[in-house]
Amino acid sequence: MSRPYVLVLYYSSHGATRTMAQHIARGIEQSGIEARLRTVPAVSANSEASAPAVPEQGALYCSEQDLANCAGLALGSPTRFGNMAAALKYFIDGTSALWLSGALIGKPASVFSSSSSLHGGQETTLISMMLPLLHHGMVITGLPYSESELLSTTTGGTPYGATHVAGNDSRRPVDDTELKLCRAQGKRLGELAIKLQKET
Ligand SMILES: Cc1cc2nc3c(=O)[nH]c(=O)nc-3n(C[C@H](O)[C@H](O)[C@H](O)COP(=O)(O)O)c2cc1C
Repeated sequence: MSRPYVLVLYYSSHGATRTMAQHIARGIEQSGIEARLRTVPAVSANSEASAPAVPEQGALYCSEQDLANCAGLALGSPTRFGNMAAALKYFIDGTSALWLSGALIGKPASVFSSSSSLHGGQETTLISMMLPLLHHGMVITGLPYSESELLSTTTGGTPYGATHVAGNDSRRPVDDTELKLCRAQGKRLGELAIKLQKET
């Protein structure tokens, strides 16, 4: 049996959501619980192609067991037409067995996203990611306004979860405010995972 961990599961094409995931993982580890970073393969219209089992670089692909055994979950996706990316949705659509067994019931979860524009659908994307997690019985957590950057940010950061504004060319680096909110979200999620574990 492995040590308890919080799973940080994300998809990222250009790296912004990956950077956010890494900072959320740092926040989780600050709370005293391990963070496990995992990603999902891209999906392709070319359905006979399949990705190698181990990616050439970066985080490993998430297994069903990674998700089933987590003490909490941070789920991150780029904003794609105001919704989560198909690759992440495809992975989630394959989790019926965990829904049937109730493996995720009562575990805390939070969501994060990166988009090109400030009003381009970050919050709808965050909510789109919450929906399947609610079906799984997870306890959704956001970011409280005691994180004062939520009141002053002119870029990313919402009470629904951490966000990043990547700009028209998707190259704008994740700024200090956005990173601070990522770490705060991770720390809060880790603390809740530890508390909820003690109660079960
Ligand atoms: C198919 C597609 C749809 C997108 N839809 C939106 C959108 O609705 N709103 C927005 O602001 N950005 C949109 N973007 C831009 C991405 O959200 C943005 O580049 C994001 O930062 C990418 O994250 P990543 O670096 O983790 O891949 C879209 C990009 C693609 C490829």
